[in-house]
Amino acid sequence: MDFSAAKAVRRRFPAFGMPVAFALTLAGAPLDASAAPVPYLDPARPVVERVEDLLARMSLDDKIGQMTQPERRSIAPAEVARFKIGSVLSSGGSAPSPNNARTWADMYDGFQRAALGTPLRVPMMYGVDAVHGHNNVVGATIFPHNIGLGATRDPALVRRIGAATAEEMTGTGVDWDFAPCVCVARDDRWGRTYESFGEVPGLPSGMTTLIEGLQGSRLGAGPTSVLATAKHYVGDGGTAGGDDQGDTRGSEAELRAVHLPPFREAVRRGVGSVMASYSSWNGVKLHGNRYLITEVLKRELGFSGFVVSDYNGIDQIDGEPGFTRAEVAAAVNAGIDMVMVPEKWRAFIDDLRAAVRAGEVPMARIDDANRRILAQKFRLGLFERPLADRRYLDTVGGAAHRALARRAVAASQVVLKNDDDVLPLDRDDEKIFVAGRSADDIGRQSGGWTITWQGAPGATTPGTTILEGIRRAAGRSRTVTYSEDGSGADPSYDVAVAVVGERPYAEYKGDRTDDLRLTGADLRTIARLRGADVPVVVVLVSGRPLDVTSELRHWDGFVASWLPGTEGAGVADVLFGTSAPSGRLPVTWPRSAAQEPINLGDGKRPLFPIGAGQTYDDDD
Ligand code: GLC
Repeated sequence: MDFSAAKAVRRRFPAFGMPVAFALTLAGAPLDASAAPVPYLDPARPVVERVEDLLARMSLDDKIGQMTQPERRSIAPAEVARFKIGSVLSSGGSAPSPNNARTWADMYDGFQRAALGTPLRVPMMYGVDAVHGHNNVVGATIFPHNIGLGATRDPALVRRIGAATAEEMTGTGVDWDFAPCVCVARDDRWGRTYESFGEVPGLPSGMTTLIEGLQGSRLGAGPTSVLATAKHYVGDGGTAGGDDQGDTRGSEAELRAVHLPPFREAVRRGVGSVMASYSSWNGVKLHGNRYLITEVLKRELGFSGFVVSDYNGIDQIDGEPGFTRAEVAAAVNAGIDMVMVPEKWRAFIDDLRAAVRAGEVPMARIDDANRRILAQKFRLGLFERPLADRRYLDTVGGAAHRALARRAVAASQVVLKNDDDVLPLDRDDEKIFVAGRSADDIGRQSGGWTITWQGAPGATTPGTTILEGIRRAAGRSRTVTYSEDGSGADPSYDVAVAVVGERPYAEYKGDRTDDLRLTGADLRTIARLRGADVPVVVVLVSGRPLDVTSELRHWDGFVASWLPGTEGAGVADVLFGTSAPSGRLPVTWPRSAAQEPINLGDGKRPLFPIGAGQTYDDDD
C-alpha cells in the first residue's frame, strides 16, 4: 500500500488524526471513497463494537500475531507485517543508531507503517522501559528513580513526571511504557530496590498517579496518552534475601496485605496493562500462576486490560532453559495475554498455533487475550493516530521538563544529619572543597536504565552534574575546588562535600549479598577530607540505603540523594538552601546488612526509621 499519499495528507493535516484508510481516501488513493469506514475503523463506534467487528475478521494467525512481542533487534518491519505482529519492544538500551529523538521517531514509524500495511491494518504498539523519563533516548530528561520519588511523598509531582515522560515518548512515537514498577521493596539487598517507591504498600499505591500522568485521565484522553504498565505482578519485592526473580514465601494473607494493594490501586486508576513478575510465590512461578493472574487480578480486582509476560519470562515456568509448547500453553492459560518473546518469536507463534489446534489452549482464551489487547489499541487512538506525533519532539530534554526534574530532585533529598547546621552551606563560605566519584558523573547520578540497560558511569547523556550544580550555586564570589579522591583538601577550606555511592546497575546485577558498605575508594576519599580538619558533608548517590553506621559519627552532614538523574542542580538547591529539604525516607535505613530484611514494625532497631528526614531551622 502506498503510504506516500497518507504522508501527503498528514503533511497538510499534521495534527488531524484520522484512520489511515480514510486518509488514503482523501488523498485519492484507490479505495472506494463512497464506502463508509468498516465498523472497526470508525472511531465514532463504541470500543466493544470495534473490537468484536475486528475480531470477527481475524484468522488464528492474526490473533496469535497480536499476542506476540519480539525485540526490535530480532525482527524486521517486513516480518512485523508478514506475521501480523501486535507489538515490538526495545529492551533496556536497545536504540537506533545514532540515538536521538528523531531517529527513534523514524524507527517507530518504520515498524508502524509495516503493521498498517497488513490487510486488516491493525497498528502495533511499541514498548519501552521509560522508568525515570524516556531514559533509552540520548538527550531525554532523566528524572529521579522511584526510591527518590517515594522520598518526596508527592503523588501530584509524580503525576506531572508521568505526563512529561509521556510527552517525550509521544514525540518519538513510542506509545507503551513498562512503568510504573509498583513493587514493595522489603529487602534492600534487592538490585531493584531503587525501582520501588517504598517498603510499605501505601507508598507505591499513592504513587500510582504516575499511571494518570502517562495515560491521562483515561487512556487516549489526549494526544500524549501512552499505555502504562503496573509491574511486576505480584510480590517481586518480597523475595527471600532480596534475590531478584527469586521466591516470595508466606501466606496469601501476607501477599494480599503487602504486595497486592498497589495493583488494586493501579487497576482503580485504569492502568491498561500489567506485567507478570519473574518471581515465584511459595515456589510457583508467577508466569504460570492462573489463580493469581486470572482469578485474583482479572476477576477479583476486575482488571480489564491485558497482562504481558516479562522478557523471556515464560522460559522460567518449568525451571529449564528456553520455552516449550507446554510452557507456552501454561502461560497463556494462566492468563498472560501478550508474550514478550524477544528472539524466539517464530517458535512461540508455531507453539501457540499447535497448542490451540491440539486443544491445549482454548480458542476462547485466544479471543479473550485479543479482546483485551485490541481494546487498549482502540482506546489509545492508535487506529486514528498511528504515527509519531513529531510536534512533541522538542519536549525531549526540553527546559520545562528539566526544570520539573530539578524540582523533583530537590524534593527527593533526605537530610539525615546536620550537626552545627553545617547545612545549608553558608553564604559566607568562601572556599568549598568537593570530592567523590559521584560528584561529576551524569551516569552515576542517573543509575541503571539510563541510555543502556545497566547504565554506566560517565557523560552518557546531556545534563547537569552535582558538581556543576554546586559551582553554579556558589557563584563567582566563592571558590569551588574539585578533586575526585579528595587530595588537596586543606584547612583553608570552609567546608568539604564528598559525593560518593554506587556504580549504576539494574535488576539481578544489582543484588548485593555483601555487607552493603561504601567502597574502599569512597571511604578513603572521605578520610582525606576529614584529614583536612574541615567540616565534612557526605552526599550518598545510591539506589538504596547503605551501611554507614561506623562512619556516620565522623561526618558533620549526611544527605541521601538516591539516583537523581540528569538535573544535579536540584541537589545543590538543597545543599545551599535554595530549596529547604523536605524529603523523608521511603525505606528503613539498616545499621548493617545483617539486619535485612528490615521494615517498619518488625521490631528491629534501625539506624534511621522510615519517614526520617530533617529540614533547616528557620533561622538558617
Ligand atoms: C526486564 C525487566 C522488566 C522490563 C522488561 C523489558 O527484564 O524485568 O521490568 O520491563 O525486561 O525490558
